[in-house]
Amino acid sequence: MVDVVLGAFYGDEGKGKIIDYLSKDSKYAVRFSGGNNAGHTIEVDGKKFAFHLIPSGILNKNVKAILGNGVVIDPKVLIEEINNLKENGYKVDNLYISDKAHLILPYHIELDGMYEDIRKERKIGTTKRGIGPAYCDKYERCGIRMEDFISKNFKEYLKTNVENKNVILKAFGYEEIDFDKVYNEYKEYAKILKPYVCDTTTMIHKALKNNEKILCEGAQATLLDIDFGSYPYVTSSSPTIGGVSTGAGIGSRYINEVYGVIKAYSSRVGEGPYVTELKDEIGDKIRELGHEYGTTTKRPRRCGWLDVVALNYAVMLNGITGIAMNHLDTIGKLDKIKLCVAYEYKGKKEEYFSTNMDFLTNSKPIYEEFDGNFGDISKCKTYDSLPENAKKYIERIEELTNTKIKFIGTGPGREDIIVR
Ligand code: GDP
Ligand code: IMO
Ligand code: MG
Repeated sequence: MVDVVLGAFYGDEGKGKIIDYLSKDSKYAVRFSGGNNAGHTIEVDGKKFAFHLIPSGILNKNVKAILGNGVVIDPKVLIEEINNLKENGYKVDNLYISDKAHLILPYHIELDGMYEDIRKERKIGTTKRGIGPAYCDKYERCGIRMEDFISKNFKEYLKTNVENKNVILKAFGYEEIDFDKVYNEYKEYAKILKPYVCDTTTMIHKALKNNEKILCEGAQATLLDIDFGSYPYVTSSSPTIGGVSTGAGIGSRYINEVYGVIKAYSSRVGEGPYVTELKDEIGDKIRELGHEYGTTTKRPRRCGWLDVVALNYAVMLNGITGIAMNHLDTIGKLDKIKLCVAYEYKGKKEEYFSTNMDFLTNSKPIYEEFDGNFGDISKCKTYDSLPENAKKYIERIEELTNTKIKFIGTGPGREDIIVR
């Protein structure tokens, strides 16, 4: 009844495109974690949509799009996204926002920048969208939820928080927040968003009772998970499978397929270890061929080979039942392709991933090499029509992960997908 799409590496694997495809047969598309640090791209008839908050499933008009309780919401960004959809002819009355979702407010954004400045060598390279500080407030229990935002409590809650945050900002010499300015601006946003706010937990469970299909859209990815990622170089939420339960209220017994999304190579934005990173001209070439520049921050993405050690960790942790692999077209433009099948750590071969920082920074990749030059595969609509070199690469990944690659991306367009 519930299928889940998750990032299996460090994000930007092309989850948006896979969600768009799968939500054709779903009644609901649910975001359960993260905020507008995410950037999910879908190209429809040559037009590019980049969603930061609204679930990518919304482009299918029969889908009800839900922002679950686990999401942190910057109201300004959400309203911009709603307006952009309306300008493009989409009705947005099928959007629902959890009354339990927390807000990102201007002091979170200011604090995100401040903490990055004072972290020194432990700088994370965050998106500076206020994500970490907003989740901190949630767990500190001073966060402001959607339910508060649209109630008369908002003014009082905001005032207390602004006063408290200003103490910190002032102590570190950062610009203080002007309560009146923020309140006057945000109370207008609350009026705009009020009609969308509801109890999405009950809504989801009514749908489950009626056997309606739900698709959960992961943001970020396994290796950015606050617990299971490369801490501290992670985000502040749970993009792994457990996030579906805590961030949407869906118990594990409802979950059916878990799709892990990867690229035929890999990428990472921000700081932190990355075993298969290519700091040479091949990495630059992949970045240019794959247009690997951040959807949210426009930062150039670090690029490298696909890492099966990390992928097997994602498969294991999330219980991935099928893989979606994008950018087969991009990797097929290279003469030779490498696939990391194990690490060498302290002179020993290691096949299990660990988030231990010494392990991650000192492991060296062990590669198998494949022939590239797949030619133009953009017209391939079936697995059989793919060139032999591409099939050899795909089937080796399946063998090493013991998991079927069910979806293959052959281009950025909505239709550029092979379903097996
Ligand atoms: P997400 O955050 O996981 O949704 O991924 P992003 O949207 O941040 O980044 C994926 C990028 O790859 C976007 O620019 C997509 O349009 C593009 N993309 C997705 N699948 C494919 C594919 O199969 N081939 C090519 N060439 N581009 C793709
Ligand atoms: P999607 O959903 C790639 C990274 C940031 C940084 C770290 C922490 O598009 O795959 P944060 O702002 O969350 O505190 O930053 O996490 N990061 C992402 N990298 N794709 C994303 O989302 C990301 N969301 C956060 O670059 O390294
Ligand atoms: Mg992205």
